[in-house]
Amino acid sequence: MIEFQRLSKTWPDGTRALSEINLRVPRGEFCVVLGPSGAGKSTLLRAVNGLMRPSSGAVRIDGVELSRSTERELRKRVAMIHQHFNLTLRMSVAANVLAGLLPVTPTLRALLCWFKPEQRKRACDLLASVGLDPKHLGRRAGELSGGQQQRVGIARAFMLDPEVVLADEPVASLDPKISRDILSLIREAARARGTSVVCSLHQVDLAREFGDRIVGMRDGRIVFDGTPDAFTDEVVERLYAGAQWEDAPAHAPRPQSHPGSFATAPA
Ligand SMILES: Nc1ncnc2c1ncn2[C@@H]1O[C@H](COP(=O)(O)OP(=O)(O)OP(=O)(O)O)[C@@H](O)[C@H]1O
Ligand SMILES: [Mg+2]
Repeated sequence: MIEFQRLSKTWPDGTRALSEINLRVPRGEFCVVLGPSGAGKSTLLRAVNGLMRPSSGAVRIDGVELSRSTERELRKRVAMIHQHFNLTLRMSVAANVLAGLLPVTPTLRALLCWFKPEQRKRACDLLASVGLDPKHLGRRAGELSGGQQQRVGIARAFMLDPEVVLADEPVASLDPKISRDILSLIREAARARGTSVVCSLHQVDLAREFGDRIVGMRDGRIVFDGTPDAFTDEVVERLYAGAQWEDAPAHAPRPQSHPGSFATAPA
């Protein structure tokens, strides 16, 4: 379970990227975050793995608050899947998947690529589970197609059996068919392990197809929180319209709570 409590972020230049975000993502949920460019989606995700320090508020993972003293431990339970895959292109596919163990591997062992046989087997099993043929194991990651690289990225993310997976536009550069394959893989891997996924997307159709829940953000705020069914064309129009959310036509649905999982600000 990830919990954001009154989370705010103001950048040094005064940009208010997050404003009092309250959100709970239970175990096993695939939560899609949508919203116009600059809405704060990446900033929200980066708050969970400590890449962004909030100005105020808290992030908790299974009840443990992210802080300087807990960050190191919590990072082992959070994995990230990136838009540009973030593989080390000159290294082998196998080495890239094993890099998922770096948070729990002594530096010297990692540098010398000393991994235990069971760790190597896990890397192979994960690669097989994301549909990558074993013949690719020894290839340099840079030789793979974008879709194949993202499969490696998913296998790497699941090496430590994370409780939370953050995916920031994981299919932005992939074609529609491969995008569906990749999102299916993330969803299946997460469901099988009870992992919470927070995934930012720009594709409304994919959000409706893959999200258990959709969170709409604008100007650093959550303006919609509900099921894909409730995320109607009218809501989409309002989410991306130039006008303020409050100024949009009254017949469109108001922001609503996800059943049983929308956190309210504490008194
Ligand atoms: N390091 C930074 N320093 C200053 N401002 C930043 C920084 N990172 C992000 N911002 C600002 O914070 C706001 C939210 O940015 P963020 O990257 O979270 O948006 P986003 O919803 O992910 O957008 P996109 O869909 O384009 O990826 C924007 O106004 C952005 O310019
Ligand atoms: Mg972003």
